[in-house]
Amino acid sequence: MILTPHDRLFVLTGAGISAESGLATFRGSGGLWNGYRVDQVATPEAWHADPELVWRFYSMRRRDALAAQPNAAHLALAKIEHKLANNFYLCTQNVDDLHERAGSLRVHHMHGSVFQSRCVQCRVPFPDQGVYETAAELPMCPECGEAVRPHIVWFGEIPLDMDGIYRELEQATRLLVVGTSGSVYPAAGFVHVASQRGIHTVYVGPEEPSNADAFDEIILGPATTVLPGLL
Ligand code: APR
Repeated sequence: MILTPHDRLFVLTGAGISAESGLATFRGSGGLWNGYRVDQVATPEAWHADPELVWRFYSMRRRDALAAQPNAAHLALAKIEHKLANNFYLCTQNVDDLHERAGSLRVHHMHGSVFQSRCVQCRVPFPDQGVYETAAELPMCPECGEAVRPHIVWFGEIPLDMDGIYRELEQATRLLVVGTSGSVYPAAGFVHVASQRGIHTVYVGPEEPSNADAFDEIILGPATTVLPGLL
């Protein structure tokens, strides 16, 4: 993918970009959804049924994300942002902070952040690296005493700032999608929105995503091998 100074790049990343940093993806062998059931840890119903189990799951993911380091693919995206500045927008489905730790500045976490929590009543997200693994440890809001939950968009909830995402996508000249199976909407639909607007679309990952047919170009390979040479 050759970028010109007139290009405006919209990047969408998924769990695959952090796979080579040692963080598990969701689907496929060894994926998080093989060891956990989505409906037990990643829905509002799961939270109401068993907040302790939900917090154990996200505490584990906090620990894993803290221990991980950004890889060459995260670094390559930070480098291209440095060149394109305002003509770059990175939307990630990932809740880890590896893009930021690689130096990316304009990162939108559409599915929330594993290092933020929010009170179910006050709803204001705040930074939180705590791990809560027993009923006695479950965090409570110091303001109102209500329960504090992970600031994560669960299945059945609306991703964050969809209006802002579509505004950015509509202004883009190129869409680069990295390491996502193309099975979770609305993110899986960005490629369709982009192609309807004539935006050139490229996918990077070791295997074809479920929405492969919609892309102009598919580059098969691990993100750390492909991205540094691509941009
Ligand atoms: N480089 C690039 N891509 C990779 C790599 C790699 N080294 N290793 C694996 N992948 C690809 C896989 O081929 C797969 O297509 O990453 C993709 C991971 O897909 P999923 O596990 O489905 O993750 P993702 O698409 O990010 O999931 C979307 O689902 O469970 C929810 O909210 C969660 O944000 C997540 C959403």
